[in-house]
Amino acid sequence: MALREAEERAAELRRELEYHNYRYYVLDDPEISDAEYDALMRELEGLEEEYPELKTPISPTQRVGAAPLEEFGQVTHTVPMLSLTNAMEEGAVIEFDQRIKRFLKTNEEIEYVAEPKLDGVAVELIYERGELTVGSTRGDGVSGEDVTQNVRTIKTIPLHLIEREEVPPDRLEVRGEVYMEVGEFKELNKRREAIGEPLFANPRNAAAGSLRQLDSSVTAQRPLKIFCYGIGEVKGRAFESQWEVLQTLPQWGLRTNPLARQCKNIQEAVAYYREINGLREGHPYEMDGVVIKVDGFALQRRLGEVSRSPRWALAYKFPAKEATTTIIAIRAQVGRTGALTPVAEMEPVRIGGVEVKRATLHNQDEIDKKDIRVGDTVVVRRAGDVIPEVVKVILSKRTGAEQSFTMPDTCPVCGSDVVRLPGEAIHRCVGISCPAQLKGRIRHFASKRAMDIDGLGLKLIDQVVAKGLVKDIADLYDLTADDLASLERMAKKSAENIVKALEKSKHPPLARFLYALGMRHVGEHIAQVLVRSLPSLDQFYQVSAEELEAIPGIGPEVAQSVHGFFNDKGNREVIRRLQKAGVEIAAPSAKREAPLKGKTFLFTGALEGMTRDEAKDLVEELGGEVSSSAGRGVAYVVAGKDPGSKYAKARELGLFIIDEEEFKRLVGVK
Ligand code: IVH
Repeated sequence: MALREAEERAAELRRELEYHNYRYYVLDDPEISDAEYDALMRELEGLEEEYPELKTPISPTQRVGAAPLEEFGQVTHTVPMLSLTNAMEEGAVIEFDQRIKRFLKTNEEIEYVAEPKLDGVAVELIYERGELTVGSTRGDGVSGEDVTQNVRTIKTIPLHLIEREEVPPDRLEVRGEVYMEVGEFKELNKRREAIGEPLFANPRNAAAGSLRQLDSSVTAQRPLKIFCYGIGEVKGRAFESQWEVLQTLPQWGLRTNPLARQCKNIQEAVAYYREINGLREGHPYEMDGVVIKVDGFALQRRLGEVSRSPRWALAYKFPAKEATTTIIAIRAQVGRTGALTPVAEMEPVRIGGVEVKRATLHNQDEIDKKDIRVGDTVVVRRAGDVIPEVVKVILSKRTGAEQSFTMPDTCPVCGSDVVRLPGEAIHRCVGISCPAQLKGRIRHFASKRAMDIDGLGLKLIDQVVAKGLVKDIADLYDLTADDLASLERMAKKSAENIVKALEKSKHPPLARFLYALGMRHVGEHIAQVLVRSLPSLDQFYQVSAEELEAIPGIGPEVAQSVHGFFNDKGNREVIRRLQKAGVEIAAPSAKREAPLKGKTFLFTGALEGMTRDEAKDLVEELGGEVSSSAGRGVAYVVAGKDPGSKYAKARELGLFIIDEEEFKRLVGVK
């Protein structure tokens, strides 16, 4: 394919992908299957790989994140991002409406737009001539952090506005809330727990922590979404009302909340509040209230603002999911990574329709900071579907009989020593064969994104560990259908299926295997980063902590953790036994290792930095082929110094011609 042709096709693919993104993310009504979408994406990736000059930062392929930053830059908002006045009860909402009527000297009903208030991170996106150029956080309202690279990785944020009914304006500043759904938040925490990373306390913190990553490739792995709810400066298009904004943005591919509603008067807005409140339980994302805004922009302008909050808007907050109860006991629970988590057992209390009798106290530092003691009367909060937590102690209720708590120095499950490493908040059980850890390790090892052993669920893990059939992950592969069929409530057929699933899991790619081992700090992303520099398992036995730390994206904690893991005799023995049982790292996928597969090269003229044979070897190592004559099947003609007749022929045929520099870039040599 000639460059021009490739360019046209790439542009077409981008338009199509953008359109399908819009169908999927904005309309929630895809026209094509995931497989068809993937095929388009792969075709575009292929073209951009073949013709690197076609890559642009706004291509839909570029949602993987960019090189890490040292720090965020600052962005000054053209129009300040205001905050909202809160109302906790209906009276304050009615008062808000009356105040507006007084201010406008009118008795007529005011029309409002009411929207869910999401608890996430406020951002501003700037589109210039339809292209996303800047993304920033709200910051102090006047200026925020430049998180452009990060927002680019969020799939519901279009990199390029689509043109449907109406051409997007020359400049469009949109504002919205970046958030994480509750289900995704729980999944993320599960993965973090599996590798011993501290958990996010709630979806809001998870969204904020994910967006404010200096390494945007981390953000790219986090399931963030956006709902747009407003505009800043707009050039080349006038809007008359909030409702018009909410109706128009989606046409350009910007997602707005479908639950938003126009209200004829304040009573309708109050009714809306009740309706949304009733919808919260089990809703995919958390809402902490509704925002009520005067619909007309002319009215908004007349109303203006007081002390950084507009007079025309109000946040009508939902009641906090809090209650008061007393702590009966504090227990240390051993997690799957050996971490001991203090858990408060409490007098049962109902919060938001659910009975709560346990709350996490996170760690010893938290207990000390909040001075939580057994016998205390405390305020407990249930944030969405998250584990309840103790907000504070009601000191006035202290009798003096309360008892403070300290972590045990031996593990309540296996009796091994409990240690707290310097600089860490977490106490850990050091017992290598602690059953609490073992079950967690197995669960993680077998999980979908690790070894993906279908059918090896929690109950079964409990059983095989209790029966002593499995003492470490390597033992899993010694399980026979007979062993399994001997367990309670296990049919022969299911037992056979599990053995099959074990068999099927034996050839993981290296990154998955590393992730499955459950080393602390080694999540999926870090595993991939490691494999890029250390593509074979053997290298992990030889590499030093310093060498690991020299890998871009690897910090001292990861380096220590990985080095420590492979240096441990017991761990090495487990890996050896896994290998003996037939676990073998799959050859890297064709895509990674053979990027030039199916591509034919033709060399003409003299190369300066290498011999023709060296160049030929390089191509072949990467899966490509070398031809000796110009023909239509040739993907690249590498023209060195003084190219000969083949060069003329290649030009005649319109083949893609590159120089030595470009060739080196293509094969990744400097
Ligand atoms: S409007 C002047 N609409 O709440 C109006 N804000 O204190 C400015 N928020 O940080 C905001 N959902 O991020 C608006 N539908 C919504 C919202 C919303 C969440 C957040 C916003 C801001 C805070 C306001």
